[in-house]
Amino acid sequence: MSIKRRHFVLNSLLALSGLILVTPIVTLLDRFRRHLPTTKRSKELTLPAVDGVHLLDNFILVKNGDQVRLFSRACTHLGCQLELDDKLNLLCPCHGSKFNHQGEVERGPAIRSLTEFRISFSAENSNQLVVGDAI
Ligand code: FES
Repeated sequence: MSIKRRHFVLNSLLALSGLILVTPIVTLLDRFRRHLPTTKRSKELTLPAVDGVHLLDNFILVKNGDQVRLFSRACTHLGCQLELDDKLNLLCPCHGSKFNHQGEVERGPAIRSLTEFRISFSAENSNQLVVGDAI
């Protein structure tokens, strides 16, 4: 094998191994980013008319009369987005963690409660909630 051909093969192998290493890292970072709740201070949400557990884009809103609580929808294990089953259980599709409507862990592997956010009502529209900082 000539030196030029050897260099070409070695450079090709280096480029291929770089792709093999970088692709999963980029995929993992993108997946993590998509599951982060938005931290914009001016984020507003429309208050649902009915009581219950409501899945929003990045949040879980629990409304019971005048009481409203807002949680991140990101599982505290590895950040997958929680789903609501037909029995209103908050379940993580990735590894099976389960949370109650107070955001507490009912089944692992997650060990931390869901992140809760302060909320206030918009001054202009009482059906709009303003999302504050994480509690
Ligand atoms: S990411 Fe939710 S249980 Fe693992």
